[in-house]
Amino acid sequence: MLFRSLLSLLLLLSPTLSFTSSTPNLRSPSSLSASPLKLIITGAPASGKGTQCLSLKNRYDLTHLSTGDMLRMAVSNGTPTGLKAKEFMDAGKLVPDEVVCGIISESLPKDSGFLLDGFPRTESQATTLNALMEEKGLGCIDCVIYLDVEESSLVERVTGRRIDPDTGDSYHIKFNPCTDPEISKRLTQRSDDTEEKVKVRLMEFRSNVEAVNGAYGEKVKRVDGNKSVEEVWESIREIVDSI
Ligand code: AP5
Repeated sequence: MLFRSLLSLLLLLSPTLSFTSSTPNLRSPSSLSASPLKLIITGAPASGKGTQCLSLKNRYDLTHLSTGDMLRMAVSNGTPTGLKAKEFMDAGKLVPDEVVCGIISESLPKDSGFLLDGFPRTESQATTLNALMEEKGLGCIDCVIYLDVEESSLVERVTGRRIDPDTGDSYHIKFNPCTDPEISKRLTQRSDDTEEKVKVRLMEFRSNVEAVNGAYGEKVKRVDGNKSVEEVWESIREIVDSI
């Protein structure tokens, strides 16, 4: 009896001890918390969403759902969704809401936290997401991280981005150069990463950003995305830890 009580006490205390051991952390990783974290990361093209998602998904144990990545995969596999999306993506325009919402509806995980990257991008997508989460009993979005970056930097980030087609890893010729000569040889550029296409992508972003952020009110946390990758991550970590 005494042994069982001691064991229960230890089990009760152990998660608390692990939170305070290395980094001070108000928010536990999602696997240890009562309700899994449900996050959105938003921002203009090349504002650094994908870059920060790597740290977010690892620290908080989240399923990363990037509509851009899923659509590019559908295009390269020639699926019906890919065929519908290709002409819009090639032009830098938004893919129709029903196509993107269909992908998200099939992908939202029921039992784990998730991180939506690049979705929702229109007011209608935000409304659909809300309805989907309610239908699936997933509760509400906890926080929307909005990466705010000056437009002059965005063009430089877009045109200098390079992708490793084998791993999907992203580099930048100036801000994050690839140091492995073997990998460097195979790096490619996304077809929509041109100065001409980024103008269209920015226009699409500008015409929707207020409506999308408006749909989440005080849950939107603005982060200065002009800083270094590490500084941006520090700001995001502080916000998410305090949820
Ligand atoms: P998507 O793939 O979502 O593109 P995007 O929103 O334009 O964002 P990016 O992937 O270009 O950039 P990012 O913010 O992830 O930046 P990254 O971290 O890579 O969408 C592509 C297309 O798919 C859309 O145009 C549309 O057609 C369609 N689509 C997708 N979702 C849709 C939706 N919901 N509805 C309708 N259509 C949809 O960083 C960029 C570069 O900058 C990298 O080289 C990186 O190394 C560098 N970098 C990152 N952070 C920093 C920093 N702090 N300082 C310096 N350099 C940095």
